[in-house]
Amino acid sequence: MTRTPGPTPSTSPRREPLREPRREPALADTQRAHWQQTYRTTPGMYGEQPSAPARYAAQAFATAAAREVLELGAGHGRDALHFARAGFTVLATDFSPTGLEQLRTAADEQGLTERVRTVVHDVRDPLPLPDASVDAVFAHMLLCMALSTEEVESLIAEVRRVLRPGGIFVYTVRHTGDAHYGDGTGHGDDIREHGGFAVHFFPRELVDRLAEGWHLAAVHPFEEGELPRRLWRITQETPR
Ligand SMILES: C[S@@+](CC[C@H](N)C(=O)[O-])C[C@H]1O[C@@H](n2cnc3c(N)ncnc32)[C@H](O)[C@@H]1O
Repeated sequence: MTRTPGPTPSTSPRREPLREPRREPALADTQRAHWQQTYRTTPGMYGEQPSAPARYAAQAFATAAAREVLELGAGHGRDALHFARAGFTVLATDFSPTGLEQLRTAADEQGLTERVRTVVHDVRDPLPLPDASVDAVFAHMLLCMALSTEEVESLIAEVRRVLRPGGIFVYTVRHTGDAHYGDGTGHGDDIREHGGFAVHFFPRELVDRLAEGWHLAAVHPFEEGELPRRLWRITQETPR
């Protein structure tokens, strides 16, 4: 057997096992773990009363003769339960199974089991519904989570896809006028992390851009909590 001269060892070349380059987990993945832990240690953290935007949305949805509501980022369900009590059929989604378990328990206790369905879903993925299949979509403080502008744009396109013509979308976001904007650790795209929670603070031009091709009915400023959080409540409708 002839050997190739040179520095190469005579044994067949040893291959290093192929290794994936080490990647940091996406911020939204670490946030998911954080929300899971938060709902475990503080069950029902937002209380039992519906939020002010949910009270408003229930009226707007009823005026629009909506029957099915999709809620994104429903958490432990203070608002989903309000929609169900108001007579809507609700599909409540969140990427925290723990939050949704608390919602299901409360729905059972309140005799609302038939009206509330829950699905564990990450809004970075396509919505788990066919085209033009719901009347109304609600999302309180979900679009301003650890989602890049691109992910928010894809989500808006998905919301539009699943809404029926003339469907109504009510969402809220913290904005760049919030006391926490500019503090904490920056993650790009106006996303800042404070006390373990990452928030995408929306500039007004983003709200306007996300409404392109929709009818933008209202942008309403309001405050919530003790900080207080400064938010906008946006109502936009798909063309008929
Ligand atoms: C600020 S909390 C609001 C919860 C609820 N809307 C309420 O007001 O009671 C945000 C919620 O969004 C969920 N969330 C954050 N990022 C998400 C994602 N990428 N996909 C789905 N849910 C997400 C969290 O688990 C959490 O329940």
